[in-house]
Amino acid sequence: MLPTFETERLFLRPRTMADLEDCMAMDRDPEVTRFIPGPWTNPDAHRRFITARMEADFGPDLGYWSIFARDQPQRFLGWVLLIPDDAVGPDIEIGWRLNRHAWGKGYATEAARPLVVHAFGQAGIKRIVAAIHPDNAASIRVAQKIGLTATHDGAPYRYFALNREDFAAALMTSQTAV
Ligand SMILES: CC(C)(COP(=O)(O)OP(=O)(O)OC[C@H]1O[C@@H](n2cnc3c(N)ncnc32)[C@H](O)[C@@H]1OP(=O)(O)O)[C@@H](O)C(=O)NCCC(=O)NCCS
Repeated sequence: MLPTFETERLFLRPRTMADLEDCMAMDRDPEVTRFIPGPWTNPDAHRRFITARMEADFGPDLGYWSIFARDQPQRFLGWVLLIPDDAVGPDIEIGWRLNRHAWGKGYATEAARPLVVHAFGQAGIKRIVAAIHPDNAASIRVAQKIGLTATHDGAPYRYFALNREDFAAALMTSQTAV
């Protein structure tokens, strides 16, 4: 059973089939999926893709979490994920996707932070990765803000990673600095 998370402004709960239409509507915005290949313009394939992801068992402590503002709990903002890379692995990928109305407020970073703590804590993962298109400046910035650093380029993506030791060291440093 996946945990829920609360941050200063957000509430994250495991994504369910009830979020299907919201997820489809979000993906149909071409700005949202600009840097992400997928079956977004084929309604049947799109529905099958998300349904398969919703039904998949990614293993203990892994999955998708839907994001809501605590002061507007009915409005789907988007999701964050922690799953085997491209749903295959063996690396564990962290990712984020928000509706355009939710961009630019720091929500993606705020939603991703508890997932990092969860990844290195309860989930016991040693390293998280992200593959981001080099032109996707907002996503790269989110990755950097939560501590990931670029490891290499492999077209069409730039690859990022964060190790548990580096996360723990950064945490110690920030605690010492306070
Ligand atoms: C990527 C995404 C999740 C970011 O969501 P968000 O809530 O706006 O992100 P945040 O506000 O937490 O952080 C975004 C950062 O990028 C910066 N940013 C945004 N657009 C930018 C741009 N065009 N160029 C440079 N920096 C940019 C913001 O200023 C902010 O950095 P700052 O806090 O240092 O000022 C959102 O844009 C999105 O859903 N995009 C479409 C889906 C997607 O591409 N997902 C990632 C696939 S790898």
